[in-house]
Amino acid sequence: METIQPLGRTSFGNEANKGNVLSKEEALDLLYSWVPNERLRLHMKQVAGVMQAWALEKEGLPETEAYKWWLAGLLHDADWEKYPNDHCRIIIEELEKRNIDPSVIQCIASHGPRHFGVEPQSTMDKMIYAIDELSGFIHAAALIRPNRYEGMDVKSIQKKLKTPSFAAQVSREDITDAVNKAGIALEDLVKFVIEKQKDINI
Ligand SMILES: [Fe+2]
Repeated sequence: METIQPLGRTSFGNEANKGNVLSKEEALDLLYSWVPNERLRLHMKQVAGVMQAWALEKEGLPETEAYKWWLAGLLHDADWEKYPNDHCRIIIEELEKRNIDPSVIQCIASHGPRHFGVEPQSTMDKMIYAIDELSGFIHAAALIRPNRYEGMDVKSIQKKLKTPSFAAQVSREDITDAVNKAGIALEDLVKFVIEKQKDINI
């Protein structure tokens, strides 16, 4: 991740495109053609599912708004595998070219402030930052359990977060920073991610 170039700008998309989204089919097409790695695809689907559920259940947003959260989650790492050094820039430019709603593009640009140099502004931006790292971490924890997500509890995740050798590539600093920025309790988000993520496995 250290070779990623910052985006060099903080504003994305065009207000005139508000409300324009990719259909579910178009979004999944993009995912499957850009991302050969199944594990990465699953990660993107998990972030998408948790984002959408958060928008609906915690923010009380209507379906059309929650769909944008799903879309941003689904595509946030679309260019990571093929363009590791230009991660984020390529997918942003693609979505700008396709005239997608600026809030979706802004959200994708906000998912790693330390890497891309973009501060999360909206609730959607802050939540992708918080959910992204935590989702990957919790999935890593599930993979080493015989029963995967079944019976997984919040405390065991919190304990693993305090164990630097477990999933060492996941930045604990980013997780702490993200939940602070979102103004939510880490415990609550861990619980939510476990609940929602357990059914997203394809
Ligand atoms: Fe990610």
